[in-house]
Amino acid sequence: MYKEQLKDLIIEKYRTRTPLAYVRTFGCRQNESDSERIKGILKETGFDFTDNPENSDIIIYNTCAVRENAELKVFGILGEVKHIKEKNPDLIVVLCGCMTGQKHIVEKIKKTYKQVDIVFGTGALNEFPRLLCELLHEKRFVCDTNEYTDDFSCRTDVVRNSTYKADVPIMYGCNNFCTYCIVPYVRGRERSRPSAEILEEVRSLAEKGYKEIMLLGQNVNSYGKGLDENIDFPTLLRKINGIDGDFRVRFMSSHPKNATRELIDAICECDKVCKHFHLPVQSGSDEILTAMNRNYSASDYLSIVEYAREKIPDFSFSTDIIVGFPNETEEDFQKTLDIMKKVKFDSVFSFIYSKRTGTKAALIDDKISDKEKSERMGRLLALQREISTEHYKRFIGRTLTVLAEEENTEKGLITGKSDEFIIVEFKADSSFLGQFVKVRITGAHNWALTGEIL
Ligand code: 5AD
Ligand code: SF4
Repeated sequence: MYKEQLKDLIIEKYRTRTPLAYVRTFGCRQNESDSERIKGILKETGFDFTDNPENSDIIIYNTCAVRENAELKVFGILGEVKHIKEKNPDLIVVLCGCMTGQKHIVEKIKKTYKQVDIVFGTGALNEFPRLLCELLHEKRFVCDTNEYTDDFSCRTDVVRNSTYKADVPIMYGCNNFCTYCIVPYVRGRERSRPSAEILEEVRSLAEKGYKEIMLLGQNVNSYGKGLDENIDFPTLLRKINGIDGDFRVRFMSSHPKNATRELIDAICECDKVCKHFHLPVQSGSDEILTAMNRNYSASDYLSIVEYAREKIPDFSFSTDIIVGFPNETEEDFQKTLDIMKKVKFDSVFSFIYSKRTGTKAALIDDKISDKEKSERMGRLLALQREISTEHYKRFIGRTLTVLAEEENTEKGLITGKSDEFIIVEFKADSSFLGQFVKVRITGAHNWALTGEIL
């Protein structure tokens, strides 16, 4: 209803001109996926898109709150936007995403950043047309950070960033309350999307020729809880695997406490599902894992890896690690390096701990200096470079299936990812983009494999 009203208001305001929207996304794939929906709403109501904020009629910042740096960046950018708005007072500035789930941030925006016109939370995405109507009618600051219970139902065609890779949200929110993490506070409680809706979306993407489907959620392993139907994540994977088409399936993110043998069995048995598991370990020390409220031990984690590799020796694992959780000792840190050596992750996304107001860990009196934390991070990165170079060598001489994703025209190279989620570089032209190619691996570096098209 509001979309129709908004369409009329847009025509009235911009007349014969098509107004332009600039959308910038910070943070994770979930935010990228939300932005695709926001773009869908904008397109449907009469906007086109621009890469230049100075040319735009509406600017949307979809923000991230996981680490402080991401927030500081947004505040910096809002400072610059003030100048753009001085030149174009008609410009509409919208702030959404995880930052807006924190009361103190919303207060700060209201008080100090008057250039912002609309604020809405991650749970109010479908309310965006209404909020824009309100702004155009009333010409005053509009804010809605409520969590609407049907926020996951996508009531619009999404504008996808890629023509061959598609993200499909399967659940929203998180119930885990890891002590360092702001996500459960800003994205609310876990809620799963009905499987029929997910299957329909995947079916339609497969028909359109999409080659990679990424199932998204904060903790996809707990998919299905609270739904009227009796379904869990392994069952959903099997159903998606049964859909016709030439596509592969990935999923992100997972929690080790819910990574069951049944799930590993499903991954191994489903031919479309990549034999790669992004399973954030966060730390290799049981003391730190307890302080993080993670509910598994390092040996629990290792037994999942062992089970997967007994079934498929090449099963690939990648992970997230936090360096410098409050009062992490050198001994704790060594245990993290140990688990990295034992698992031999194909890639590690590592982050220095960032204190998030409102979380439990923020209350800990941290005795470890920033210098010590950076030094540990340096050691972790050096170790991972060594591990990946060595571990990637297992693929030399073998043939991998790679989805060709990007072109480096200067070097005549294409890069893509193998089923194992490893970057592979090979000589080819752009005609291969968006296709699966068989690549024979000839070299291994710490960041990628190189090879030749078969
Ligand atoms: N500080 C640093 N890293 C964090 N992450 C989540 N919260 C924090 C924090 N406060 C990391 C975790 C998570 C990834 C998405 O971000 O490793 O898995
Ligand atoms: Fe944050 Fe833990 Fe939930 Fe992941 S599982 S979003 S780290 S609280």
